[in-house]
Amino acid sequence: MITGRYPELRLRRNRKYSWSRKLIQENTLSPSDFILPIFLIEGSNKKVSISSMPEVYRYSINRLSQVVDRAIKKGIPTVALFPKTNNNLKNQTGSESLNENNLVCKAIIEIKKKYKNQIGIMCDVALDPYTSHGHDGLIKSNKIINDETVDLLVNQSLLQAQMGCDILAPSDMMDGRIGKIRKALDKSGYNDVLLLSYAVKYASNFYGPFRDAVGSKKSLKGNKKTYQMDFKNSDEALREVALDIKEGADMVMIKPGMPYLDIIKSIKEKFKIPVLAYQVSGEYSLISNAIKKGFINKDAIYESLMAFKRAGATAIISYYADRINKILI
Ligand code: PBG
Repeated sequence: MITGRYPELRLRRNRKYSWSRKLIQENTLSPSDFILPIFLIEGSNKKVSISSMPEVYRYSINRLSQVVDRAIKKGIPTVALFPKTNNNLKNQTGSESLNENNLVCKAIIEIKKKYKNQIGIMCDVALDPYTSHGHDGLIKSNKIINDETVDLLVNQSLLQAQMGCDILAPSDMMDGRIGKIRKALDKSGYNDVLLLSYAVKYASNFYGPFRDAVGSKKSLKGNKKTYQMDFKNSDEALREVALDIKEGADMVMIKPGMPYLDIIKSIKEKFKIPVLAYQVSGEYSLISNAIKKGFINKDAIYESLMAFKRAGATAIISYYADRINKILI
C-alpha cells in the first residue's frame, strides 16, 4: 500500500493549506444524513428539559411544530418520535401502546396534517415506554417471553402504520418480529411502510439518559441482557443482520454508535444495505456535558459524527441533528 518513501514522499504536503486539505477530504456530512429524535410529553404548551441531556427537551403535541419546523428548515429528512408516557398509563402489558389516542399516535397525526410528506416519521416498535417494569417485552414467570411479545408488536406496528408512520423501527430485539411485522403490514395494505430494524442493539450502559427522558429508568427491573446483545460479541451481529434482511428489513441500525464503529464497518462491507448508526443518549450526554464544563471544545460534536461516516454509516440518528451548523457547510 505504501508506494513511496521519505524524503521524496512527504504526506504533510497534502495537508499544508486549507484548500488542499479540502481537496483530499474523504468524507462529508450533510443534513440529509440525519434523523432527529424528538421526545413527546402529555399536556399543553410544554417544553420540558431533561437534566442529563443539555438542550434536549420533551415537547407537548401543540409545541411539536417548533422542533419539526427547525428540522425541515435545516434539511433533516426524518424525525423519530419517543413518548414519555404518564406513569398511571403504564402497566404489565404496556397496553397504552395499542391506544390510538396515545402520544405517539397523536404526534404522527399532527405532523402529517401539518407537513404532509415534507418530512419522514420514524417510530419505535417496543413496549418499554408503556410497561410498568420498563422492559421491551411481556414478562411471564420472570422471563421476557418472545412470541407473545411479537404478537403485541405486530399490533403496535399496524396501529402506527394506520396513523401514518413512514418508518417502523422495532427496537425490542425479539426473535422473528421483522418477518411477522412485514407480513402483517403487507396483508393490511401497508406495503409502502418501511422497516428499519434495530438489528444490532447491545445491552448497553449508554442508554441511561434516554431512559430518564422517557421515564423508564426508575421502573426498569433488572437488565435487558436476555434480549439485547452482549457487547463482547461481533459475529453475532452479522447473524442478527442476516436474519433481519431475510425477514424483510429495508435498513438496519447499529446501536449504540461510537463504541461500535467496528460493527458498523463490517455490516456495511458485508451486506451493502443502508446502515444507520444511533449516537445514543449516553454518548450525547458525555460529549455535551464535557463541552458544558469546558473540558473539550464543541467541534468534538462534528468529529464524533464524522466518525460514523468514516465507518460507513449511511445515516445517523443524533440528538444534535437540528443544531449543528457545520453539517450545513
Ligand atoms: C427502547 C429504546 C431505547 C433507546 C431507543 N429505543 C432504550 C433501551 O433499549 O433501553 C435508547 C436510545 C438512546 O439511549 O438514545 N427500546
